[in-house]
Amino acid sequence: MINLDVKHLQNFLAPHELEQLEGQAQAAWDLIKNGGGPGQEFLGWFDLPINYDRQEFDRILECASQIRDDSQVLLVAGIGGSYLGAKAFIEAMGPLWESQAAKKAKQVPEILYVGNNLSPAYYLDLMDYVGDRDFSLNIVSKSGGTLESALAFRLLRQEMEEKYGLEEAAKRIYATTDKAKGKLKKLADEKGYETFVIPDNIGGRYSVLTAVGLLPMAVAGLDIGAMLEGAQQYKLQMEKEELASAAIRYAMIRNALYRKGYRVEVLASFDQELRSLSEWWKQLFGESEGKDHRGIYPASVSYSTDLHSLGQFLQDGSRILFETFLSVAEPRRDLAIPSDEEDRDELNYLAGKSLGEIQAIALDATALAHADGGVPNLRLTLGRLDELHLGALIFFFEAACGVSGYMNAINPFDQEGVEAYKKNMFALMGKPGMEALAQELQNRI
Ligand code: PA5
Repeated sequence: MINLDVKHLQNFLAPHELEQLEGQAQAAWDLIKNGGGPGQEFLGWFDLPINYDRQEFDRILECASQIRDDSQVLLVAGIGGSYLGAKAFIEAMGPLWESQAAKKAKQVPEILYVGNNLSPAYYLDLMDYVGDRDFSLNIVSKSGGTLESALAFRLLRQEMEEKYGLEEAAKRIYATTDKAKGKLKKLADEKGYETFVIPDNIGGRYSVLTAVGLLPMAVAGLDIGAMLEGAQQYKLQMEKEELASAAIRYAMIRNALYRKGYRVEVLASFDQELRSLSEWWKQLFGESEGKDHRGIYPASVSYSTDLHSLGQFLQDGSRILFETFLSVAEPRRDLAIPSDEEDRDELNYLAGKSLGEIQAIALDATALAHADGGVPNLRLTLGRLDELHLGALIFFFEAACGVSGYMNAINPFDQEGVEAYKKNMFALMGKPGMEALAQELQNRI
């Protein structure tokens, strides 16, 4: 389902450089499979494709169908791991653009994401855009206390209550949060919202195959059963192949390159459907690995667009980068280049080729040029853009990230660093109990 091609690493890594990492990779993989490493209490994602809650799965499908019946818009309020996965995989399945009329005919609400920034214009323009369309709201927050999403929820809840009245509004709000702790769970129970659980043992960025991602993806019409099936298939394959699996080889290659001074991994794709997937990938790896003043900085580019901007840096700038091309073997759609009698643009040599073929050639050409320019690159190819393959890709990246983090001797499952800005922000905003810190920060601003 996922192929790893390493031919453009030849000039950068000798075979022994990977062989000598095998012991560390095996130890890291054992910690993922059996626990025992730092953050082991957050390994729930590993067995999730097999032991997920079937009753909750059915309830997700029922609620998705309800939302499709009564709403033209679903607002998903969440930040980080609480929305990036849903957005990534809904967009990956396309279509890239669909008119509101077409969505209405298919009974697929438009899905919009809120609570992931603090921009007043974003919020107000978005609500103008929703206009008088019927909407439902999925608030997603494991902690229930994240400022960005909690604020969006407060604003939207009030809009909703004004528009529909308290009783109807309560039926249109779906809360995805932890099972018992936290303000959101308490509020949801008191108000009678439908709730879904983010298991205690699954962190935000590993949660796309829980209700966090499954509810919005089901509303968008994705086959979420096939997605879990794909993840399960890849997990079983990895358990069989172990160190020979593409996921563990990918983790080993990243670590080998990092140790040779390649500090930035650029995820590069020519497929426009994968733009948001890159954002999900960046969060998964960035928040998991950037710790203790170590880690590979995950960046992304969307080609061909970025070949005409960042491409210059990739080809010829500081040699601190390696590149991971992510492509799809069978394009979701394809079209042929027509011939032109006059051929004034001199493009007839391409007539008869499909745009997909031209894109594949552009990828080959870019990978070669970048390798020649001193950028080690590897290629991950997904068989098709369907739910089964995307489910496999989710597990692939999650497992690779866990193994890679353990190989680099950090805890891939916490995110202490994210708290620093929050502490300052809450103090400066005047949160009760934080007056002393507020004073100290004010003096330094
Ligand atoms: O991966 C993570 O744990 C984070 O990115 C969280 O998903 C993000 O901070 C949102 O947290 P919460 O769901 O508690 O609002």
